[in-house]
Amino acid sequence: MKLPNLLRMPILFAFALCIPFVSLAAETEASPILGDSAKGREQFVRKCATCHPVDLGGRSNLGPNLHGVFGRVVGSYEGFRYGAPYLAAAQAGEVWTPERAFEYLLDPTAMFKGGRMILRVRDETIRADLTAYLLSISPEYRPK
Ligand code: HEC
Repeated sequence: MKLPNLLRMPILFAFALCIPFVSLAAETEASPILGDSAKGREQFVRKCATCHPVDLGGRSNLGPNLHGVFGRVVGSYEGFRYGAPYLAAAQAGEVWTPERAFEYLLDPTAMFKGGRMILRVRDETIRADLTAYLLSISPEYRPK
């Protein structure tokens, strides 16, 4: 059936309206490094909290306090005695971002050879959840 011209226009228009939604969906899928922060919190309590406190301005433990870790210079939490590879990264002005943390947690000693943080999180979903949790405890962080 041949559509009259008057009908074709609104159909084309409706199509054009859908395009931004389709590309929005593609964008959220392209960022798999931020998962579910509530699940990440559970994982953190299980895997990380014995070494890492997260209270604002609090003390460190076996590992540095991680409150506000995103946006912070690597190896820079006051009062914590970092190992040499972290101090070298601090000298170079490297900053923690969600991208860096997601990669780091896969194998911390690959990024910081000889560092004391050795816990590896191989599961991508769990790593994304942990990264989302770290973002939730970094209220000052603004992506550049
Ligand atoms: C057995 C103790 C321990 C556990 C468990 C642990 N860490 Fe660590 N973490 C450390 C230590 C120690 C460092 C500092 C390493 C150094 O100075 O060599 C560190 C460093 C870090 C840093 C860098 C912080 C900074 O200020 O530069 C991040 C981020 C981090 N850990 C995240 C995690 C996460 C997330 C988990 C859980 C999946 C975890 N850690 C589990 C001990 C631990």
